[in-house]
Amino acid sequence: MPHRLKNSNAPIGIFDSGLGGLSIWKELNQLLPNESTIYLADSINAPYGEKSKDEIINFSVKNTELLIKLGCKLIVVACNTATTNAIKTLRKNYSIPFIGIEPAIKPAALQSKTHKIGVLATKGTLSSELFIATSEQFRHSKDFIEVEGKGLVKLIEAGKIHETEELLIKYLTPMIKNGVDNIVLGCSHYPFLIPIIKKIIPEGIHIIDSGKAVALQTKNILLKENKLNQSTTATHTFYTNKDVQLLMDFLTLIDAKTNIVEYKNF
Ligand code: DGL
Repeated sequence: MPHRLKNSNAPIGIFDSGLGGLSIWKELNQLLPNESTIYLADSINAPYGEKSKDEIINFSVKNTELLIKLGCKLIVVACNTATTNAIKTLRKNYSIPFIGIEPAIKPAALQSKTHKIGVLATKGTLSSELFIATSEQFRHSKDFIEVEGKGLVKLIEAGKIHETEELLIKYLTPMIKNGVDNIVLGCSHYPFLIPIIKKIIPEGIHIIDSGKAVALQTKNILLKENKLNQSTTATHTFYTNKDVQLLMDFLTLIDAKTNIVEYKNF
């Protein structure tokens, strides 16, 4: 469908299966501080990564419809699982532009010297047609050590970030043993685990996530469409359908300095 962006001062909509996409919100807010945002944390349905493709599409459609109703000018699908399973359907059915997030395997492949790359992502992302097709382009010269981060999103959504260490050791050890020099974090929840991951992996291994690339892509689209917000009074609204206090804790964790923050249930 052709894109039709609303007013330049309309907010950017962002959704995720929960709080993970706040790692993307942070990058967006840093790069585009004048932009207003509306964030939806569909925590009640997390983890998306263990759901069927149809269920992931249904959740993504529901989130999209709410963000459109709330007057957003563009939607950032701040979830690898939703992007890799549902963005094609969303783009076909809605005229609003979508920016998605996918595991950053291309930059990892370009900079890898050992030609071995670890990918930590959800089952839904690793088994998606989009991920398989993208990684296929590099498989002639690179080995991907793909590991499903089962259980990690559940712990993060319960606010138990420090309890992920045991699982992370289990998931990262085969990557380290295989000689990876890059580890791609293919889930927007995982940047919250970086301090723990750094304690587990040797120093020379790079950790790559897609947050900055998503923010840059959003800026480029808004620039191209002449829809960057010219006003300097950005407002931020955060919706969750689960635990408002936990959402506030995560905003503290990412050091969110916003002028107006509202928390709402949906
Ligand atoms: N944050 C998500 C992602 O980037 C979804 C994780 C999940 O709900 O399983 O994949």
